[in-house]
Amino acid sequence: MKRFISHEELARDRRFKRARNGNALLQSLPDDVDQIVQIFESIAPKLRQRVAGTSLEAVFDDLGPGFQFLTSSGGKQSKDERSPLQLKIQLHGIFVGELQALEAAGRTLWDFPDAPWDFKMNMARQCWDEGRHVQIFEKLMDHVGVEIGEFPESTFLFETSCHDDPALRVTGVNRCLEGLACDVFRSLIDYGKQIDDSIIEQAVDFVLADELTHVRFGSEWVKEFTRNDPERQARAKAFQRETDRAFSFGGAREVAREERLEAGFSEEELDEIESMGAVGPSRATLLLAAETLRDRHRARTRGENVAPLTER
Ligand SMILES: [Fe+2]
Ligand SMILES: [Fe+2]
Repeated sequence: MKRFISHEELARDRRFKRARNGNALLQSLPDDVDQIVQIFESIAPKLRQRVAGTSLEAVFDDLGPGFQFLTSSGGKQSKDERSPLQLKIQLHGIFVGELQALEAAGRTLWDFPDAPWDFKMNMARQCWDEGRHVQIFEKLMDHVGVEIGEFPESTFLFETSCHDDPALRVTGVNRCLEGLACDVFRSLIDYGKQIDDSIIEQAVDFVLADELTHVRFGSEWVKEFTRNDPERQARAKAFQRETDRAFSFGGAREVAREERLEAGFSEEELDEIESMGAVGPSRATLLLAAETLRDRHRARTRGENVAPLTER
């Protein structure tokens, strides 16, 4: 069996639709509403193509090419606000994220045959947990009425976090990706409480308990792999920063401090993650651009003549 596979080789059955990772485009956008509107209107047909055949097709037709900024639940999580569509997108996104976490842990076990036995046991334990998480989120998707493949899957998490140095692999997968999962799950549990949905609240609470262990594996093994090797330690630190920044799209993350501290993050690391600025435009700019895109899209749908922005 091949070692170090690319994210493109992740196998899926026909139910799934793969979306290209749009993060590079987003991060390259200027912090300027008009320019973002122009760019998105110019690539609108391509964006529509990406969601064709999924539930997002109708969302695109209603909201236009900036729809993801009006519906996305990624990045900063709100404890008490989610539309039914946002909840569906989020649960589907977490479901494919759990699949990717399962694949990442399994790959880590396979990619580094000379790693210590205890490390392999930890990764095997993680696979077992992630397999269970996939099943839990499959059931939660049932609970809110969303089907596998109803939304496209981006392999962004797998792409960003899988590295061929085991120290950097556990940094990316177990500290950055699993750390992000802690933040997302904390917020989802609070949301479940808020709307009196004890199924969401309890199911996600069980999952969060496991994720803490996975982050802890990361914290411990990064230390172990970089012991007496300051250069490798610095590389791991730089990779962590880079990956956390990539996961901080839109800036201002709500970090699950209590959980992350328990899992081996230091106060300084958490301060740093919380203060990370956006790569690319701010959330406020994106939201304004998305609203402009929506209004222009709707006007066009009504048959009105909408002038290109440059001619305004
Ligand atoms: Fe998980
Ligand atoms: Fe995990």
